[in-house]
Amino acid sequence: MEETSLLSLLFVSSLLICSTNQARLTVSPSRSQFFKRDSVSLSCEEDDSSAGWRLRRNTTKQTRAECGAEWGKSSGSSCIISFIFPLDSGVYWCESREGATSNTINITVTGGSVILQSPVLPVMEGHDVTLHCKTKTTPSNLPAAFYKDGSLIRAEPTGHMTIHHVTKSDEGLYKCNISSDGESPPSWITVTGKPTTTNLPTPTVTPTPASARDGVLWSLHLMFILVRYLVMLCPYFISTVLMVSLYRHRPTGNHLPISMVMTPPTQAEQGLDDDYDDVTTEHHF
Ligand SMILES: *[C@@H]1O[C@H](CO)[C@@H](O)[C@H](O)[C@H]1NC(C)=O
Ligand SMILES: *[C@@H]1O[C@H](CO)[C@@H](O)[C@H](O)[C@H]1NC(C)=O
Ligand SMILES: *[C@@H]1O[C@H](CO)[C@@H](O)[C@H](O)[C@H]1NC(C)=O
Repeated sequence: MEETSLLSLLFVSSLLICSTNQARLTVSPSRSQFFKRDSVSLSCEEDDSSAGWRLRRNTTKQTRAECGAEWGKSSGSSCIISFIFPLDSGVYWCESREGATSNTINITVTGGSVILQSPVLPVMEGHDVTLHCKTKTTPSNLPAAFYKDGSLIRAEPTGHMTIHHVTKSDEGLYKCNISSDGESPPSWITVTGKPTTTNLPTPTVTPTPASARDGVLWSLHLMFILVRYLVMLCPYFISTVLMVSLYRHRPTGNHLPISMVMTPPTQAEQGLDDDYDDVTTEHHF
């Protein structure tokens, strides 16, 4: 019982201390449509830079093309495209050496003179969304028409429109049109349900095992993750575990003077070995 709670504590702590293997892709400026020759910066916001996160993209011409090697200029965990072109349109994501992936971002580059500024990341149900229709040449707002899935939804003299309390039914392909300048490319607006947990380490989203078998598999999975964290990523944590363990197995109270007197160095070493064995068996529990 005590061993189990200690293990749980260690597990939760290891998640908190070493939570990793997640990345979030962001784009700056934060929009998914750009004019030709705009400068764009993409960043992998990662918890663990040692996982080797790389920015990749699929375009009409490239598949899984890596930043720095095949496009853009790599700069730390960011990637800069100084002059973006329509051929840079595509889907972008971060990928770790082990193949873990971040969210994806669709980027569309237009050779035209109108863009729709819509949220890059999925919008949460119930939130408000504001769409802006912008031209390349005029900084002020011009009257614009907004379309969803090909049908006119609103004409706005101010050039922007807000959808209040979005629902799943607001999801779709949006574009806008400014009569003097033309039409924007279309962009998807995705609406997600409840608060998204994609940014948390997966194991904290504890599933309810459907059966005992799943429960066992899940435990194995947890153990695998725990061992992996401990072995690969948390040498400090291993030291802590060892120290806690040594402390727990340390002779206590009245025994101390006796064992000090009675224990020659070889027996002390033997004691250490026992402690190591205990650590190993705990991990197999
Ligand atoms: C990129 O393209 C490859 C090959 O077509 C495909 O398997 C993969 O799912 C694509 N990735 C994304 C994020 O669209
Ligand atoms: C990216 O675009 C594709 C269609 O081209 C769409 O199915 C997908 O949902 C979009 N992804 C995002 C994150 O907007
Ligand atoms: C763009 O909007 C103008 C009015 O604002 C309209 O006359 C024109 O037909 C629209 N173009 C398209 C392609 O919808």
